[in-house]
Amino acid sequence: MREIPGRVYQAAPGFEDHLEAELARPLQRWGPLYYVTEPPEHQVFWQQNTWLRPFLVEFDSISQAARTLRDIQRNWRPVLHTQFRRASLIASQLPPISNKPRTFPWLLPDAPLGVWTLLDAHTLAGSAACSSPFPAGVINFAEDREGPPSRAYLKLWESLVRCRRWPRSGERCLDAGASPGGWTWALARLGAQVIACDRAPLERRILDIPGPDGQPAVTYLKHDAFTLSLAELGKLDWIFCDAACYPSRLYEWVEKLLAAGICENFVCTLKMQGEGDHETTRRFAEIPGGMVVHLYHNKHELTWIKTAPLPCQS
Ligand SMILES: C[S@@+](CC[C@H](N)C(=O)[O-])C[C@H]1O[C@@H](n2cnc3c(N)ncnc32)[C@H](O)[C@@H]1O
Repeated sequence: MREIPGRVYQAAPGFEDHLEAELARPLQRWGPLYYVTEPPEHQVFWQQNTWLRPFLVEFDSISQAARTLRDIQRNWRPVLHTQFRRASLIASQLPPISNKPRTFPWLLPDAPLGVWTLLDAHTLAGSAACSSPFPAGVINFAEDREGPPSRAYLKLWESLVRCRRWPRSGERCLDAGASPGGWTWALARLGAQVIACDRAPLERRILDIPGPDGQPAVTYLKHDAFTLSLAELGKLDWIFCDAACYPSRLYEWVEKLLAAGICENFVCTLKMQGEGDHETTRRFAEIPGGMVVHLYHNKHELTWIKTAPLPCQS
């Protein structure tokens, strides 16, 4: 096993051009994977997973390749673009990792998850450490096809699993840009008190979801979320925003919210148009304690997540 300099980026499917625009040249492409020896100094956003410490293994036999991976750690997921038959033989000699859709809420395990690919019949590339906590950046949830009025709740679930916490029963949440109500539905199901703000209406049944005390869990405000009075909102445990707006408008609002100190936990979607707003994305990424990611369930958008520090575990 030989470590190699640089990083390998796995493109978010459909956004290969965005990733290529972010990466310095020269780059080598292995299917969905892009290897660069000199990673850019700025954060790379349009990736599903980044290999943080790539290595190469030259091997003679299937069992030798599998043993090399097993000796490093238990969990590995292949990302294949060639040598499929040979790769499946190697994979069959590695401990299985579940592909089952996850039921939300689900606490991420701590065990590291590596990825690997074959470059040719005798060369394996891999990384034991990755940026995504999900196998090769993929997370599938057991979906609810009846409760929520849209599938947007999947990106909310993914964000919350990623930050290893979610609103607890009774916590006050603002859902800005809430219509038709997918995120609000997901929050109300956790027992949270949700203020759902949108100029468009929520689906009626979302307003009827009961809270833990039997009273409605959701209060609907027909309003521009960005001009809500912060004094009237008062202290909030979480602020969520999936509003269809320019990232720069969202940033102005978030700056005000942070300055007012009314909330510590945020999940906001940065909706992009065309090539995206790099300037604002970087400004979001620079907010201390936060991160900007392309979720598996994001489309032409990124997600800014910032939560209060987790209490120290003894
Ligand atoms: C993608 S939809 C939100 C979907 C929602 N998260 C769900 O799970 O069903 C975007 C919403 O943002 C709302 N929106 C856009 N600008 C807004 C603003 N300034 N204030 C409130 N809502 C806004 C739109 O009316 C639209 O309903």
